[in-house]
Order: sequence, then C-alpha cells, then structure tokens
Amino acid sequence: MNRTVIYPGSFDPVTLGHLEVIRRASKLFDKVIVAVLINSAKTPTFSIEERMQLLTDAVAGLDNVEIAGFEGLLAAYCRQRGVNAIVKGLRAVSDFEYEFQMAIANKKLNPELETIFITADADAMYLSSSMVREIGSMGGDISNFVPACVHDRIVERLRKSSL
Ligand code: COA
Repeated sequence: MNRTVIYPGSFDPVTLGHLEVIRRASKLFDKVIVAVLINSAKTPTFSIEERMQLLTDAVAGLDNVEIAGFEGLLAAYCRQRGVNAIVKGLRAVSDFEYEFQMAIANKKLNPELETIFITADADAMYLSSSMVREIGSMGGDISNFVPACVHDRIVERLRKSSL
C-alpha cells in the first residue's frame, strides 16, 4: 500500500519547525505533499511562488516530498489528490483546541480523512512564521528559525517589505 500524507499550511515563510515536521513525516510515509494555501484570510507577505520556491529549496534531498499549491477546502483537496491522511505539527497546548476543531471539521467534510499530529521539536515549540516575519523585518537575527539554505532570501525579502 502506498501511503501519502498532506502537510497543509501557509508557510509564510517556511521555518525550521515546518522542516522538522516534513522530515519526520517523510520517514513515516511513502510520500509527503506539502500543500501551500493559495488564498487565505491572512494576507501573505511572501507570494505563493515565493513560498513554494523557498519550500522546494528547503526540502532538497528529501526525494519523497512534493510541494504543491491548493485553493479552497483542504478536505476537498485531499479528496482530489486521493489522499486520506493529513499531518500537522503540534507545538503547545494552545495549538490543541484549534487543531482538534480543524481535524473534526475535516473529518465531517471527508469521513475518510485522518489527521495525524507530530509533536514539535523542543526548539520549535515557540516558533511561528509571523514571529520570523516580525524579527526579520526589524533587522533581527533569524538564523536559528529558518533553514540555512533559504535564510538570505528570506532576510532580503523581509528587509524590502519593511522599507
Ligand atoms: N513549526 C513552526 N511553526 C508552525 C508549526 C511548526 N511545526 N506549525 C504551525 N506553525 C505556525 C504556522 O507557520 C502559522 O504561523 P503564522 O500564524 O504566524 O503564519 C501558525 O503556526 C498556525 O499554523 P496553522 O494552524 O498550520 O495555520 P496555517 O495558516 O499555516 O495553515 C491551513 C492553515 C492551511 C491548514 C488551514 O487554514 C486550512 O486548511 N485552510 C483551507 C480551508 C479549509 O479547509 N478550512 C476549513 C478547515 S477545517
């Protein structure tokens, strides 16, 4: 049986916390589809092309990982891709209620769907994309928060968007 999982998110931008979830999921599943939300209530700082390119570079070497964009309902996208599993990172107790709600709503929309949680690495417990954006746009050091291979591009982009 070929087991594929979808890891959805805004990834605005990708962080080391996301990369850790992708790495660990890629060991548990035959294939990981990292699904980047195209339209969101949140107005992204990084365009969909930028977010997907940063992710593509960050996962280089992980051969069973695909980066894709998706619009609309996640449950519908999973059905469209023929995938029955979603993976999410769980950082702190505060994530739990929201994630629990989403997992149940997704299952109501698509009863075949299971949501699997990977507990975040201790180092990523506090991390979020908005924290990276805020620190980076104010000239702070984000090297402990984002993958090294995309660090300079993220810094440059945040510097420009804060001008
Ligand atoms: N490491 C670091 N940061 C993490 C993380 C981890 N392991 N897990 C989550 N985060 C961060 C994210 O970067 C995000 O940061 P931000 O708010 O500063 O941008 C924050 O924690 C929240 O993450 P998440 O809850 O995964 O939100 P998201 O915006 O990245 O993704 C979707 C949300 C795309 C999964 C969700 O909105 C969705 O499914 N949308 C489609 C529409 C739909 O189906 N709606 C009904 C759902 S029931």
